[in-house]
Amino acid sequence: MLMMQKEVHNLFEKFQVSSNIIKGERQALDPGFIPDRLPHREKEAEQIAGILAPALDGKRPSNIIIFGKPGVGKTSVVRFVEREASRIIDTRFNLKMKIVDINCGVVDSSYGVLLSIGNALLGDWEDKLPFTGWPLDKMFNVVNERITNFGGIVIVVMDEIDRLVRKSGDSVIYQLLRINETSSKGKISIVGISNDLRFTDYLDPRVKSRLIEETIVFHPYNATQIYDILRDRSLFSGILESIDDSSIRLCAAIAAQDQGDARRAIDLLRISVEIAEMKQFSKITDDIIYEAKQKLERDIVSETISTLPLHSKLTLLSAVLMDDIKKGSKTTMGEVYDLYSKAAQRIGVSSLTPRRIADIVGELSNLGILESQVQSFGRYGRTTMISVNYDPGRIKEILMNDEMIGILQDVKPSQKSLTES
Ligand SMILES: Nc1ncnc2c1ncn2[C@@H]1O[C@H](COP(=O)(O)OP(=O)(O)O)[C@@H](O)[C@H]1O
Ligand SMILES: [Mg+2]
Repeated sequence: MLMMQKEVHNLFEKFQVSSNIIKGERQALDPGFIPDRLPHREKEAEQIAGILAPALDGKRPSNIIIFGKPGVGKTSVVRFVEREASRIIDTRFNLKMKIVDINCGVVDSSYGVLLSIGNALLGDWEDKLPFTGWPLDKMFNVVNERITNFGGIVIVVMDEIDRLVRKSGDSVIYQLLRINETSSKGKISIVGISNDLRFTDYLDPRVKSRLIEETIVFHPYNATQIYDILRDRSLFSGILESIDDSSIRLCAAIAAQDQGDARRAIDLLRISVEIAEMKQFSKITDDIIYEAKQKLERDIVSETISTLPLHSKLTLLSAVLMDDIKKGSKTTMGEVYDLYSKAAQRIGVSSLTPRRIADIVGELSNLGILESQVQSFGRYGRTTMISVNYDPGRIKEILMNDEMIGILQDVKPSQKSLTES
Protein backbone atom coordinates (compact mmCIF):
# COMPACT_ATOMS: atom_id res chain seq x y z
CA MET A 1 0.00 0.00 0.00
CA LEU A 2 2.79 2.33 0.94
CA MET A 3 4.32 1.77 -2.48
CA MET A 4 1.23 3.19 -4.17
CA GLN A 5 1.50 6.50 -2.37
CA LYS A 6 5.14 6.93 -3.10
CA GLU A 7 5.99 9.59 -5.63
CA VAL A 8 7.68 8.30 -8.79
CA HIS A 9 11.06 10.02 -9.19
CA ASN A 10 12.37 8.29 -12.23
CA LEU A 11 10.75 6.55 -15.14
CA PHE A 12 12.98 3.53 -14.67
CA GLU A 13 12.58 3.20 -10.95
CA LYS A 14 9.86 0.60 -11.02
CA PHE A 15 11.77 -1.54 -13.48
CA GLN A 16 14.84 -1.77 -11.36
CA VAL A 17 15.41 -5.07 -9.70
CA SER A 18 14.84 -4.69 -6.03
CA SER A 19 15.69 -7.55 -3.80
CA ASN A 20 14.58 -8.51 -0.37
CA ILE A 21 17.36 -11.09 -0.27
CA ILE A 22 20.51 -9.43 -1.60
CA LYS A 23 21.91 -6.64 0.54
CA GLY A 24 25.41 -6.58 -0.94
CA GLU A 25 27.07 -7.19 -4.29
CA ARG A 26 24.90 -9.33 -6.54
CA GLN A 27 27.88 -10.06 -8.73
CA ALA A 28 29.51 -12.07 -5.94
CA LEU A 29 27.15 -14.85 -7.03
CA ASP A 30 28.10 -14.56 -10.72
CA PRO A 31 30.01 -17.45 -12.29
CA GLY A 32 32.90 -15.21 -13.40
CA PHE A 33 33.43 -13.38 -10.12
CA ILE A 34 36.86 -13.78 -8.55
CA PRO A 35 36.88 -12.86 -4.87
CA ASP A 36 39.85 -11.31 -3.09
CA ARG A 37 40.44 -14.46 -1.12
CA LEU A 38 40.15 -18.06 -2.18
CA PRO A 39 39.64 -20.25 0.87
CA HIS A 40 41.37 -23.64 0.76
CA ARG A 41 43.51 -22.69 -2.21
CA GLU A 42 46.10 -20.58 -0.39
CA LYS A 43 48.66 -23.36 -0.67
CA GLU A 44 48.18 -23.80 -4.41
CA ALA A 45 48.33 -20.03 -5.01
CA GLU A 46 51.55 -19.83 -3.06
CA GLN A 47 53.01 -22.79 -4.90
CA ILE A 48 52.30 -21.19 -8.28
CA ALA A 49 53.64 -17.83 -7.12
CA GLY A 50 56.79 -19.56 -5.89
CA ILE A 51 57.40 -21.18 -9.26
CA LEU A 52 56.78 -17.94 -11.16
CA ALA A 53 58.76 -15.72 -8.77
CA PRO A 54 62.13 -16.01 -10.60
CA ALA A 55 60.53 -13.94 -13.40
CA LEU A 56 60.67 -10.96 -11.05
CA ASP A 57 64.46 -11.31 -11.14
CA GLY A 58 64.50 -11.67 -14.91
CA LYS A 59 64.91 -15.44 -14.89
CA ARG A 60 62.73 -17.84 -16.83
CA PRO A 61 60.34 -19.73 -14.53
CA SER A 62 59.59 -23.41 -15.11
CA ASN A 63 56.54 -24.25 -17.15
CA ILE A 64 53.60 -25.38 -15.04
CA ILE A 65 50.79 -27.75 -15.86
CA ILE A 66 47.77 -27.54 -13.58
CA PHE A 67 45.28 -30.38 -13.56
CA GLY A 68 41.90 -30.76 -11.92
CA LYS A 69 38.24 -31.45 -12.57
CA PRO A 70 35.96 -28.55 -13.54
CA GLY A 71 35.03 -26.13 -10.77
CA VAL A 72 37.94 -26.83 -8.43
CA GLY A 73 39.30 -23.28 -8.68
CA LYS A 74 42.07 -23.64 -11.28
CA THR A 75 41.17 -20.58 -13.34
CA SER A 76 40.40 -18.45 -10.28
CA VAL A 77 43.65 -19.28 -8.53
CA VAL A 78 45.76 -18.54 -11.60
CA ARG A 79 43.89 -15.27 -12.18
CA PHE A 80 44.46 -14.39 -8.57
CA VAL A 81 48.19 -15.03 -8.88
CA GLU A 82 48.26 -12.99 -12.12
CA ARG A 83 46.53 -10.12 -10.39
CA GLU A 84 49.11 -10.13 -7.63
CA ALA A 85 51.96 -10.32 -10.15
CA SER A 86 50.52 -7.44 -12.19
CA ARG A 87 50.52 -5.25 -9.10
CA ILE A 88 54.26 -5.73 -8.84
CA ILE A 89 54.86 -5.36 -12.58
CA ASP A 90 52.96 -2.06 -12.54
CA THR A 91 55.23 -0.58 -9.90
CA ARG A 92 58.58 -1.69 -11.33
CA PHE A 93 59.32 0.24 -14.49
CA ASN A 94 62.42 -1.67 -15.46
CA LEU A 95 60.93 -5.10 -14.89
CA LYS A 96 60.60 -6.83 -18.23
CA MET A 97 57.83 -9.31 -17.58
CA LYS A 98 54.57 -9.80 -19.41
CA ILE A 99 51.63 -12.11 -18.76
CA VAL A 100 49.50 -13.18 -21.71
CA ASP A 101 46.18 -14.80 -20.94
CA ILE A 102 44.69 -17.18 -23.50
CA ASN A 103 41.41 -19.00 -23.03
CA CYS A 104 41.88 -22.00 -25.31
CA GLY A 105 38.20 -22.84 -24.93
CA VAL A 106 37.73 -19.89 -27.28
CA VAL A 107 41.11 -19.52 -28.97
CA ASP A 108 41.79 -23.10 -30.05
CA SER A 109 43.89 -22.69 -33.21
CA SER A 110 47.66 -22.27 -33.60
CA TYR A 111 47.00 -19.04 -35.46
CA GLY A 112 44.82 -17.70 -32.64
CA VAL A 113 47.47 -18.49 -30.03
CA LEU A 114 50.21 -16.71 -32.01
CA LEU A 115 47.88 -13.79 -32.65
CA SER A 116 47.14 -13.37 -28.94
CA ILE A 117 50.83 -13.43 -28.00
CA GLY A 118 51.89 -11.20 -30.90
CA ASN A 119 49.28 -8.57 -30.13
CA ALA A 120 50.05 -8.61 -26.42
CA LEU A 121 53.68 -7.72 -27.21
CA LEU A 122 52.80 -4.86 -29.49
CA GLY A 123 55.14 -1.86 -29.35
CA ASP A 124 53.50 1.59 -29.39
CA TRP A 125 54.40 2.11 -33.01
CA GLU A 126 53.49 -1.37 -34.25
CA ASP A 127 50.33 -2.48 -36.00
CA LYS A 128 48.10 -5.22 -34.71
CA LEU A 129 48.58 -8.54 -36.44
CA PRO A 130 45.92 -9.49 -38.98
CA PHE A 131 43.00 -11.44 -37.56
CA THR A 132 43.40 -14.01 -40.29
CA GLY A 133 45.24 -14.67 -43.54
CA TRP A 134 48.96 -14.89 -42.81
CA PRO A 135 50.79 -18.21 -43.17
CA LEU A 136 51.59 -19.77 -39.80
CA ASP A 137 55.37 -19.53 -40.20
CA LYS A 138 55.15 -15.80 -40.91
CA MET A 139 53.00 -15.37 -37.80
CA PHE A 140 55.46 -17.35 -35.79
CA ASN A 141 58.45 -15.34 -37.04
CA VAL A 142 56.80 -12.11 -36.01
CA VAL A 143 55.97 -13.48 -32.56
CA ASN A 144 59.52 -14.78 -32.17
CA GLU A 145 60.89 -11.39 -33.17
CA ARG A 146 58.62 -9.57 -30.75
CA ILE A 147 59.62 -11.79 -27.86
CA THR A 148 63.29 -11.20 -28.69
CA ASN A 149 62.78 -7.44 -29.00
CA PHE A 150 60.88 -7.40 -25.74
CA GLY A 151 63.87 -9.10 -24.21
CA GLY A 152 62.13 -10.15 -21.00
CA ILE A 153 60.05 -12.99 -19.62
CA VAL A 154 56.74 -13.74 -21.30
CA ILE A 155 54.42 -15.94 -19.29
CA VAL A 156 51.72 -17.41 -21.47
CA VAL A 157 48.76 -18.74 -19.51
CA MET A 158 46.82 -21.25 -21.58
CA ASP A 159 43.57 -22.04 -19.83
CA GLU A 160 41.87 -25.23 -21.07
CA ILE A 161 45.05 -26.10 -22.97
CA ASP A 162 43.65 -29.62 -23.54
CA ARG A 163 41.11 -28.14 -25.94
CA LEU A 164 43.83 -26.49 -28.01
CA VAL A 165 45.76 -29.75 -28.22
CA ARG A 166 42.68 -31.79 -29.10
CA LYS A 167 41.55 -29.35 -31.75
CA SER A 168 44.82 -28.19 -33.30
CA GLY A 169 47.59 -30.44 -32.04
CA ASP A 170 50.65 -29.39 -30.06
CA SER A 171 52.92 -27.95 -32.75
CA VAL A 172 52.40 -24.34 -31.65
CA ILE A 173 53.46 -25.27 -28.11
CA TYR A 174 56.56 -26.92 -29.48
CA GLN A 175 57.47 -23.90 -31.58
CA LEU A 176 56.93 -21.49 -28.72
CA LEU A 177 59.10 -23.48 -26.32
CA ARG A 178 61.83 -23.79 -28.93
CA ILE A 179 62.26 -20.02 -28.72
CA ASN A 180 63.97 -20.58 -25.36
CA GLU A 181 66.58 -22.69 -27.10
CA THR A 182 67.22 -20.33 -29.99
CA SER A 183 66.84 -16.86 -28.51
CA SER A 184 69.13 -15.61 -25.81
CA LYS A 185 67.15 -12.41 -25.21
CA GLY A 186 63.42 -12.93 -24.47
CA LYS A 187 62.18 -16.16 -22.88
CA ILE A 188 58.83 -17.79 -22.63
CA SER A 189 57.14 -19.87 -19.92
CA ILE A 190 53.84 -21.64 -20.28
CA VAL A 191 51.26 -22.13 -17.56
CA GLY A 192 48.84 -24.71 -18.92
CA ILE A 193 45.53 -25.48 -17.21
CA SER A 194 43.64 -28.66 -18.07
CA ASN A 195 40.37 -30.27 -16.97
CA ASP A 196 41.48 -33.48 -18.60
CA LEU A 197 43.89 -35.45 -16.46
CA ARG A 198 45.09 -37.53 -19.38
CA PHE A 199 45.76 -34.72 -21.78
CA THR A 200 49.53 -35.18 -21.71
CA ASP A 201 49.01 -38.62 -23.32
CA TYR A 202 48.17 -36.78 -26.52
CA LEU A 203 51.41 -34.83 -26.55
CA ASP A 204 54.36 -35.57 -28.78
CA PRO A 205 57.27 -36.77 -26.59
CA ARG A 206 59.35 -33.75 -27.63
CA VAL A 207 56.61 -31.41 -26.45
CA LYS A 208 55.93 -33.42 -23.34
CA SER A 209 59.53 -33.32 -22.13
CA ARG A 210 59.76 -29.56 -22.68
CA LEU A 211 56.32 -28.55 -21.45
CA ILE A 212 56.04 -30.53 -18.25
CA GLU A 213 58.46 -29.10 -15.74
CA GLU A 214 56.15 -28.60 -12.76
CA THR A 215 52.80 -30.31 -12.23
CA ILE A 216 50.15 -29.22 -9.76
CA VAL A 217 46.95 -31.16 -9.14
CA PHE A 218 43.85 -29.45 -7.72
CA HIS A 219 41.70 -31.91 -5.80
CA PRO A 220 37.90 -31.68 -5.56
CA TYR A 221 36.54 -29.74 -2.59
CA ASN A 222 34.82 -31.55 0.26
CA ALA A 223 31.57 -30.35 1.87
CA THR A 224 33.30 -28.33 4.60
CA GLN A 225 35.49 -26.52 2.09
CA ILE A 226 32.55 -25.74 -0.15
CA TYR A 227 30.71 -24.47 2.89
CA ASP A 228 33.53 -21.98 3.57
CA ILE A 229 33.46 -20.83 -0.06
CA LEU A 230 29.67 -20.40 0.00
CA ARG A 231 29.78 -18.60 3.31
CA ASP A 232 32.22 -16.08 1.86
CA ARG A 233 30.02 -15.55 -1.16
CA SER A 234 26.96 -15.17 1.06
CA LEU A 235 28.82 -12.54 3.04
CA PHE A 236 29.95 -10.57 -0.05
CA SER A 237 26.49 -10.67 -1.60
CA GLY A 238 24.88 -9.74 1.69
CA ILE A 239 22.43 -12.61 1.93
CA LEU A 240 23.46 -13.88 5.35
CA GLU A 241 20.34 -12.43 6.96
CA SER A 242 18.17 -14.34 4.53
CA ILE A 243 19.69 -17.78 4.80
CA ASP A 244 20.26 -20.05 7.78
CA ASP A 245 23.70 -21.47 8.31
CA SER A 246 22.21 -24.97 8.06
CA SER A 247 20.87 -24.12 4.59
CA ILE A 248 24.32 -23.02 3.41
CA ARG A 249 25.56 -26.37 4.67
CA LEU A 250 22.81 -28.08 2.71
CA CYS A 251 23.95 -26.36 -0.51
CA ALA A 252 27.52 -27.41 0.25
CA ALA A 253 26.53 -31.02 0.92
CA ILE A 254 24.59 -31.22 -2.35
CA ALA A 255 27.51 -29.80 -4.32
CA ALA A 256 30.08 -31.99 -2.57
CA GLN A 257 28.16 -35.10 -3.60
CA ASP A 258 28.32 -33.78 -7.13
CA GLN A 259 32.11 -33.96 -7.72
CA GLY A 260 33.16 -31.21 -5.29
CA ASP A 261 32.57 -28.55 -7.90
CA ALA A 262 32.50 -25.01 -6.45
CA ARG A 263 30.93 -23.62 -9.61
CA ARG A 264 27.87 -25.84 -9.20
CA ALA A 265 27.68 -24.91 -5.52
CA ILE A 266 27.62 -21.19 -6.32
CA ASP A 267 25.12 -21.79 -9.13
CA LEU A 268 22.90 -23.58 -6.66
CA LEU A 269 23.07 -20.67 -4.24
CA ARG A 270 22.41 -18.11 -6.98
CA ILE A 271 19.40 -19.98 -8.35
CA SER A 272 18.05 -20.33 -4.82
CA VAL A 273 18.31 -16.55 -4.41
CA GLU A 274 16.53 -16.04 -7.72
CA ILE A 275 13.70 -18.38 -6.79
CA ALA A 276 13.27 -16.70 -3.41
CA GLU A 277 13.18 -13.28 -5.11
CA MET A 278 10.65 -14.46 -7.65
CA LYS A 279 8.41 -15.80 -4.90
CA GLN A 280 9.00 -12.60 -2.96
CA PHE A 281 10.16 -14.57 0.05
CA SER A 282 12.50 -12.92 2.48
CA LYS A 283 14.20 -16.19 3.36
CA ILE A 284 15.92 -18.93 1.40
CA THR A 285 14.39 -22.09 2.80
CA ASP A 286 15.61 -25.66 2.34
CA ASP A 287 12.61 -26.29 0.08
CA ILE A 288 13.82 -23.53 -2.19
CA ILE A 289 17.28 -25.07 -2.29
CA TYR A 290 15.82 -28.41 -3.37
CA GLU A 291 13.79 -26.63 -6.01
CA ALA A 292 16.94 -24.87 -7.22
CA LYS A 293 18.75 -28.20 -7.31
CA GLN A 294 16.11 -29.58 -9.65
CA LYS A 295 16.23 -26.51 -11.85
CA LEU A 296 20.02 -26.70 -12.01
CA GLU A 297 19.89 -30.36 -13.03
CA ARG A 298 17.34 -29.56 -15.72
CA ASP A 299 19.53 -26.73 -17.01
CA ILE A 300 22.61 -28.93 -17.10
CA VAL A 301 20.87 -31.75 -18.96
CA SER A 302 19.38 -29.33 -21.43
CA GLU A 303 22.74 -27.64 -22.03
CA THR A 304 24.44 -31.01 -22.43
CA ILE A 305 21.89 -32.25 -24.95
CA SER A 306 21.61 -29.08 -26.99
CA THR A 307 25.38 -28.86 -27.47
CA LEU A 308 25.83 -32.47 -28.62
CA PRO A 309 27.22 -33.01 -32.15
CA LEU A 310 24.65 -33.81 -34.84
CA HIS A 311 25.17 -37.58 -35.00
CA SER A 312 24.95 -37.88 -31.24
CA LYS A 313 21.68 -35.99 -31.34
CA LEU A 314 20.37 -38.31 -34.05
CA THR A 315 21.41 -41.36 -32.04
CA LEU A 316 19.77 -40.00 -28.91
CA LEU A 317 16.60 -39.16 -30.81
CA SER A 318 16.45 -42.69 -32.20
CA ALA A 319 16.88 -44.18 -28.73
CA VAL A 320 14.12 -41.96 -27.36
CA LEU A 321 11.69 -42.69 -30.20
CA MET A 322 12.36 -46.44 -29.98
CA ASP A 323 11.85 -46.29 -26.24
CA ASP A 324 8.45 -44.75 -26.85
CA ILE A 325 7.47 -47.40 -29.41
CA LYS A 326 8.63 -50.34 -27.30
CA LYS A 327 6.65 -49.11 -24.30
CA GLY A 328 8.85 -50.20 -21.47
CA SER A 329 10.73 -53.11 -22.96
CA LYS A 330 14.36 -52.37 -23.79
CA THR A 331 15.61 -51.42 -27.21
CA THR A 332 18.48 -53.16 -28.98
CA MET A 333 21.49 -51.44 -30.49
CA GLY A 334 20.38 -52.75 -33.90
CA GLU A 335 17.00 -51.08 -33.62
CA VAL A 336 18.55 -47.79 -32.61
CA TYR A 337 20.99 -48.04 -35.48
CA ASP A 338 18.26 -48.71 -38.05
CA LEU A 339 16.19 -45.76 -36.96
CA TYR A 340 19.32 -43.60 -36.75
CA SER A 341 20.26 -44.38 -40.38
CA LYS A 342 16.77 -43.62 -41.50
CA ALA A 343 16.80 -40.30 -39.66
CA ALA A 344 20.21 -39.41 -41.07
CA GLN A 345 19.03 -40.17 -44.57
CA ARG A 346 15.89 -38.08 -44.06
CA ILE A 347 17.91 -34.97 -43.25
CA GLY A 348 20.43 -35.69 -46.00
CA VAL A 349 23.58 -36.60 -44.09
CA SER A 350 25.39 -39.88 -44.61
CA SER A 351 25.20 -42.21 -41.63
CA LEU A 352 28.16 -43.28 -39.53
CA THR A 353 29.09 -46.93 -39.11
CA PRO A 354 27.38 -49.14 -36.48
CA ARG A 355 30.73 -49.17 -34.65
CA ARG A 356 30.74 -45.35 -34.33
CA ILE A 357 27.11 -45.31 -33.19
CA ALA A 358 27.96 -47.91 -30.54
CA ASP A 359 30.71 -45.51 -29.37
CA ILE A 360 28.24 -42.65 -29.28
CA VAL A 361 25.79 -44.73 -27.24
CA GLY A 362 28.69 -45.35 -24.87
CA GLU A 363 29.38 -41.60 -24.62
CA LEU A 364 25.70 -40.84 -23.98
CA SER A 365 25.73 -43.49 -21.24
CA ASN A 366 28.78 -41.88 -19.66
CA LEU A 367 26.84 -38.64 -19.60
CA GLY A 368 24.05 -40.48 -17.80
CA ILE A 369 21.43 -39.77 -20.46
CA LEU A 370 21.19 -43.33 -21.76
CA GLU A 371 21.94 -46.62 -20.13
CA SER A 372 23.38 -49.50 -22.07
CA GLN A 373 23.87 -53.08 -20.99
CA VAL A 374 25.38 -55.98 -22.83
CA GLN A 375 23.07 -58.96 -22.73
CA SER A 376 24.35 -62.39 -23.59
CA PHE A 377 22.30 -65.01 -25.43
CA GLY A 378 24.69 -67.85 -24.83
CA ARG A 379 26.01 -69.26 -28.06
CA TYR A 380 23.66 -67.04 -30.08
CA GLY A 381 25.84 -64.08 -29.25
CA ARG A 382 25.38 -60.84 -27.43
CA THR A 383 23.56 -57.61 -27.98
CA THR A 384 23.54 -54.23 -26.32
CA MET A 385 20.25 -53.23 -24.75
CA ILE A 386 19.59 -49.53 -24.48
CA SER A 387 17.26 -47.62 -22.22
CA VAL A 388 16.66 -43.92 -21.63
CA ASN A 389 17.73 -42.60 -18.26
CA TYR A 390 16.06 -39.22 -18.29
CA ASP A 391 12.56 -37.93 -19.08
CA PRO A 392 12.16 -38.93 -22.77
CA GLY A 393 9.54 -36.24 -23.45
CA ARG A 394 11.92 -33.58 -22.18
CA ILE A 395 14.83 -34.94 -24.25
CA LYS A 396 12.70 -34.90 -27.37
CA GLU A 397 11.61 -31.36 -26.65
CA ILE A 398 15.23 -30.19 -26.33
CA LEU A 399 16.29 -32.06 -29.47
CA MET A 400 13.44 -30.61 -31.51
CA ASN A 401 14.85 -27.14 -30.92
CA ASP A 402 17.68 -28.06 -33.26
CA GLU A 403 16.88 -26.77 -36.73
CA MET A 404 18.01 -29.94 -38.48
CA ILE A 405 16.45 -32.37 -36.07
CA GLY A 406 13.16 -30.45 -35.94
CA ILE A 407 11.94 -31.96 -39.20
CA LEU A 408 12.24 -35.48 -37.78
CA GLN A 409 9.18 -35.07 -35.56
CA ASP A 410 7.44 -38.08 -37.12
CA VAL A 411 10.27 -40.34 -38.25
CA LYS A 412 9.36 -43.98 -37.59
CA PRO A 413 11.24 -47.25 -37.79
CA SER A 414 10.43 -49.45 -40.75
CA GLN A 415 8.05 -52.34 -39.99
CA LYS A 416 10.79 -54.76 -40.98
CA SER A 417 13.29 -53.72 -38.34
CA LEU A 418 10.59 -53.94 -35.65
CA THR A 419 9.36 -57.41 -36.48
CA GLU A 420 12.88 -58.77 -36.73
CA SER A 421 13.63 -58.18 -33.08
N1 LIG B 1 38.65 -21.55 -3.25
C1 LIG B 1 37.67 -20.81 -3.77
N2 LIG B 1 37.19 -19.76 -3.13
C2 LIG B 1 36.19 -19.01 -3.66
N3 LIG B 1 35.61 -19.25 -4.82
C3 LIG B 1 36.05 -20.31 -5.52
C4 LIG B 1 37.09 -21.14 -5.04
N4 LIG B 1 37.32 -22.12 -5.94
C5 LIG B 1 36.45 -21.91 -6.94
N5 LIG B 1 35.68 -20.83 -6.68
C6 LIG B 1 34.61 -20.32 -7.53
O1 LIG B 1 34.03 -21.42 -8.20
C7 LIG B 1 33.83 -21.13 -9.58
C8 LIG B 1 34.62 -22.09 -10.44
O2 LIG B 1 36.01 -21.89 -10.26
P1 LIG B 1 37.05 -21.96 -11.46
O3 LIG B 1 38.30 -21.34 -10.99
O4 LIG B 1 36.43 -21.39 -12.68
O5 LIG B 1 37.22 -23.53 -11.61
P2 LIG B 1 38.00 -24.35 -12.74
O6 LIG B 1 38.83 -23.39 -13.55
O7 LIG B 1 38.80 -25.34 -11.97
O8 LIG B 1 36.94 -25.01 -13.55
C9 LIG B 1 34.22 -19.68 -9.76
O9 LIG B 1 33.06 -18.89 -9.68
C10 LIG B 1 35.14 -19.40 -8.60
O10 LIG B 1 35.09 -18.05 -8.23
MG1 LIG C 1 38.66 -23.08 -15.60
